[in-house]
Amino acid sequence: MGKAKHRFIFPERPLVSEDYSLECADAVDGLRLLRNDSVRCIITSPPYFHKFDYGCKGQCGLDESIEEYVRYQTLVAHELLRVATKDANLFFIIQDSYNGSGGTGGDFIQVDGHYKVSAIRGAKVTGYPRKAQLMVPERLRLAFASVGWIPILKIIWDKMDPRRAARDRPSYSYEEIHVWAASPDHYWNRGGVLSPFRSVSLGQTKRPYLNTSRGDYSGTRQENPSDTKRRIIRSMKNREGAYLRAVWPIPSGNQPVVWLPGGQVRGIASFPLLLAEICVNLGSAVGDTVLDPFCGMGTTLLAALKWGREAIGIDLSEKYIRAADVRIRELLEGK
Ligand SMILES: C[S@@+](CC[C@H](N)C(=O)[O-])C[C@H]1O[C@@H](n2cnc3c(N)ncnc32)[C@H](O)[C@@H]1O
Repeated sequence: MGKAKHRFIFPERPLVSEDYSLECADAVDGLRLLRNDSVRCIITSPPYFHKFDYGCKGQCGLDESIEEYVRYQTLVAHELLRVATKDANLFFIIQDSYNGSGGTGGDFIQVDGHYKVSAIRGAKVTGYPRKAQLMVPERLRLAFASVGWIPILKIIWDKMDPRRAARDRPSYSYEEIHVWAASPDHYWNRGGVLSPFRSVSLGQTKRPYLNTSRGDYSGTRQENPSDTKRRIIRSMKNREGAYLRAVWPIPSGNQPVVWLPGGQVRGIASFPLLLAEICVNLGSAVGDTVLDPFCGMGTTLLAALKWGREAIGIDLSEKYIRAADVRIRELLEGK
């Protein structure tokens, strides 16, 4: 049975920005080159713990221990908070790792459009039972909070495409998008991306709301529920769609491919452009600076430039930096 495609409603697109920079460096070193208070929005997914080999020396993700991995990401989080403006948002995309059994670790990656067992074949961390989730997202959440980022919400990215199920659990078909704020007064453009109203909600706007709650709410800090409902219906009539909820159905799609003089470069674990475009629109305004310290094939930068923001990307792999540059030039040349 086919699944109806979910739609996201975007505002009118501004002029594409041409203002971007790419730095081939370790994330912490690259961040140290950036000024304090200079970035309004960060969208990134780091190498996940023991999932992929990006083929560059000094890469994170294949660390000896989970503690070392968390320590490095904490350093990154610290630098990110330094370069972030006081009202900045950070969208941090992460998936957990399973302690390997010598088998697949339950992880499948897409290679040339087909699902294959991850080359890393699952993390192996002594002291943890086989098949245990290593609780990487939870560890990082505690670490990021400890350096001062404010946890706002965990969003579930429902990847929507068929995944092979493991034998003894449902398939791990989502990733987590952790939204962090640099301060309680963070910028948020909640109408920046909408999704179509559900039919049940639409039905409500089509008939007058008659019910009246009789409770006396004066002197309390609560609004009369009837007034709340009336207010929501009035506001719905003025909008094209609903504010986003915390589950985003976005097909992960195919990995980007770029041809360089040395041959083909294919993304590993690149997130979809649509996902980055949603984050850009919710977490920044036209003209702001958007950063990705693990930019890979440059998806965050493409989304930022497409929506009139300035973009900064850092990645340790020269190959990915060059591929990101090609993708960006193609966007700017209108290809
Ligand atoms: C999950 S991928 C990012 C994919 C990216 N979002 C995209 O759309 O293509 C993680 C990236 O981190 C890079 N990387 C690994 N270790 C790094 C480090 N220490 N500093 C900076 N980048 C690193 C890898 O080369 C890889 O491109």
